[in-house]
Amino acid sequence: MNLLLKHSFFFVVLVLFSVKSFAQKLSVKNQTVEYQYNPIGIDSSLPRFSWALSTSLKNTLQSSYELRVGTDSVKLKGGKEIIWASGIHQTDQSVLVNYGGPELQSDIRYFWQVRVRDNHGNASAWSPVNFWQMGLKAADWTSEWITVAGKDTLKASPYFRREIQISKPIRRATAYLTANGLYEAHINGSRVGDHYFAPGWTSYKNRLQYQAYDLSTVLKKGNNAIGIVLGDGWYKGRIGFDYQHNYYGDQRAFLMQIVVEYTDGSKETLKTDNGWKYQYGAILSSDIYDGEVYDSRKALKGWSATDYKAGQGWMDGRVFKHDAVPLLGTVSPPVKKHEQFKAIRVFKTPKGETVADFGQNLVGWEQIKASGAAGNKITVSHAEVLDKEGNFYTKNLRSAKSQNTYILNGEGEQVFEPHFTYHGFRYIKIEGYPGVLEPSALTATALYSDMKQNGTFVTSDTLLNKLQRNILWGQKGNFLDVPTDCPQRDERLGWTGDAQAFFSTAAYNMDVAGFFTKWLKDLAADQYGDGSVPHVIPNVLGNGQGGATGWADASTIIPWGMYESYGDRRILEEQYASMKAWEGYMIAQSKNDLWTTGFHFGDWLFYRPNDDTEGRSAVTDKYLIAQTFFAHSTQLLINTAKVLGKKEDVEVYTALLAKLKSAFQREYMTSTGRLVSGTQTGYVLALHFDMLPEALRAQAAERLVSNVESYGNHLTTGFLGTPYLCQVLSRFGYTDVAYKLLFQESYPSWLYPVKMGATTIWERWDGIKEDGTFQNDGMNSFNHYAYGAIGEWMYNHIAGIKLSAPGYKQLIIAPEPGGKLTSARGTLMTPYGLVKSEWKIENGKIILDISIPANTRASLLLPKAAQKEVKENGVNLKAEASNAIRKDIQLSRGSGEYHFEYGF
Ligand code: BGC
Repeated sequence: MNLLLKHSFFFVVLVLFSVKSFAQKLSVKNQTVEYQYNPIGIDSSLPRFSWALSTSLKNTLQSSYELRVGTDSVKLKGGKEIIWASGIHQTDQSVLVNYGGPELQSDIRYFWQVRVRDNHGNASAWSPVNFWQMGLKAADWTSEWITVAGKDTLKASPYFRREIQISKPIRRATAYLTANGLYEAHINGSRVGDHYFAPGWTSYKNRLQYQAYDLSTVLKKGNNAIGIVLGDGWYKGRIGFDYQHNYYGDQRAFLMQIVVEYTDGSKETLKTDNGWKYQYGAILSSDIYDGEVYDSRKALKGWSATDYKAGQGWMDGRVFKHDAVPLLGTVSPPVKKHEQFKAIRVFKTPKGETVADFGQNLVGWEQIKASGAAGNKITVSHAEVLDKEGNFYTKNLRSAKSQNTYILNGEGEQVFEPHFTYHGFRYIKIEGYPGVLEPSALTATALYSDMKQNGTFVTSDTLLNKLQRNILWGQKGNFLDVPTDCPQRDERLGWTGDAQAFFSTAAYNMDVAGFFTKWLKDLAADQYGDGSVPHVIPNVLGNGQGGATGWADASTIIPWGMYESYGDRRILEEQYASMKAWEGYMIAQSKNDLWTTGFHFGDWLFYRPNDDTEGRSAVTDKYLIAQTFFAHSTQLLINTAKVLGKKEDVEVYTALLAKLKSAFQREYMTSTGRLVSGTQTGYVLALHFDMLPEALRAQAAERLVSNVESYGNHLTTGFLGTPYLCQVLSRFGYTDVAYKLLFQESYPSWLYPVKMGATTIWERWDGIKEDGTFQNDGMNSFNHYAYGAIGEWMYNHIAGIKLSAPGYKQLIIAPEPGGKLTSARGTLMTPYGLVKSEWKIENGKIILDISIPANTRASLLLPKAAQKEVKENGVNLKAEASNAIRKDIQLSRGSGEYHFEYGF
């Protein structure tokens, strides 16, 4: 070897070596506090830190962590002025680690870092400095509520303004803000923040959230103008049935406190008090169901800028005595603007109406560009579908007007969008547009809670991919601060049954941790004194509207689901009383361990043919259902009591559960295991909730399968049976039947609506019938996520991503190829990092690619791999164990990327 070659050889080795050691370095990523990245306005006295490990080494587990917290980021980085050092904890916990330092103070921004070691002896550096900022504790709220003079009887939105003086240069400033109704804040002529529908919808009489906005670069030294616009929202506007208004109160008002920290270190608190003026402006009315009327001739131009003169017509706001209600930091993601859609076409319907199509049924609103004469009125109506003839169809909105009216000011091109309303729509009808309406004048913007998309699911089948897309859009459209049944008609309520049915799928698709943390608190707050849970949360249906099986069980199913998906033990602690109260209600309702009383929705919207002469309707006895959910909730309560170390409760409820099951068997099962309701839902619930004696389960699964076959491989389940149908089939070895149901294209099935052009999940299996006519106008939403609950099976059986310890600390990857699929790929961002399970079948071979995040372990089940020559990352594999039923090979693996190939 000549010298040069030799040198370059060493150089290459050196480079390779350093690249390798660089790549192997351990570091920390995905740092969050209370599920949020650098949040402000946290009011938990014990916030929790989470992080994930980044490493290229396989089989990595965290062996210890160390946290430090300070109030100065630069000093913290240098290891100085640390207010809390956790010390080294020899543990693999990296998710939801409690703060353990001195009491946290209102409005203080705390900075934090973490460093970790792993099982290979690597140590990370200190992580980047992240922060969280505390909100205002109850005692630190000193502002007054502000409202209009006299009774707030006008529909128009009041615009409040006030000027404030800032005497010194600012280091940091934060506004804390909430309202009765909805608010939009402006400072010095610009909108503050990108939140919509703030302060969100909670059980307002018990809990009111405030939001925090960073004003450090918004406020300036000298004179500043602040503007607040109020809308009716859920608080005062129309909500629930029967044209109900003022459910929570009749006076819109707001509360604001700004805390300014100057560069000299001093602090000042600016409070809402008597100095506010208000005036009515362009928003003449704005209602969630009915839409908005906006007269731009009445716009108060520049009203929130400092040079505006609030002269004639401006009135004095007044201090409002607000009922004492806990003011709470916001734990759920704010509603924000998301995807935008251009109109794909503007056309005339057979009736001669001008309609635009955005190609996607979405929830939000339109922007419309127009120029015309002052006083020209444009009305925009919203619809999800066109009827059989191609006409604009709004009957399914029932009494919701869902219409925006924009009045032009004649001053050139204007762009309109509403403020305190939202619509569920794919089509808009435009009337009164001046001139020629080009598609480019129209945009639709989706608005929903700002949840990260955590999951993806794609297969070789186009229709199935569309179904997944529809499920996701059903979620986006109905997760607008609360999980609603539908987003378009005069309803849009937090139906508990729908929410529990869809929860698991929701948690695969998106990060719903904060979203449901908030909603569960409202559930507990609105729970009736006897433990019964209202049908809708927040409850706007009044007293006595609750206690229905499968609906009220949201109180146990969702907290347990949150614990499983996110490893959140605190949710269980906080919801335990509510869970137990619901259990207590069911116990009180039952006699001899059987629950056979009260009103129930049952297996809502199950299959029933029109002229049912043969008795093919899939009716499941409501009390049979009640008994299964009673047992299920009891099981979840036992699980929870175990996690929380409540031994006595574990004993009491375990004894009860055995009795509930025997009572079920006595009442609803023959000695050979036939159920009194021989429906799919009957068998599915009995099997999924382990209601039957072990020895009679296999035959019950066979009965379920023959029932499915008797309907020509069609499902007949409603809201309660659907989520578990394929889960049960797979559990008992009938994944092939589950695939037949999934790929069924004729009614009733998941793909039937997809074939009919759906872009979201429908409320009914036959919202649009084969002949193009509609189901009952009175209840026919085209954006109702409940049946989208099949999504869970797609992730956990087709892609095969399942958890086996809370938060995916341990997981199972068990893909089950089937049907006509030749490939599938699922990914899930877990608290520990990204899990991937991808398979494809090619030339008689299956190729599997799996990623397991650091600090977790997985059990891999390679489908039909027994007795095959399996290559793992190119090397022949020696089987570790195999699963008899599925002829799988079971392997235990630590973190890393894995590639398998074998004959298939
Ligand atoms: C809602 C449902 C809800 C149901 C109760 C309907 O009006 O849209 O989704 O769960 O009532 O059965």
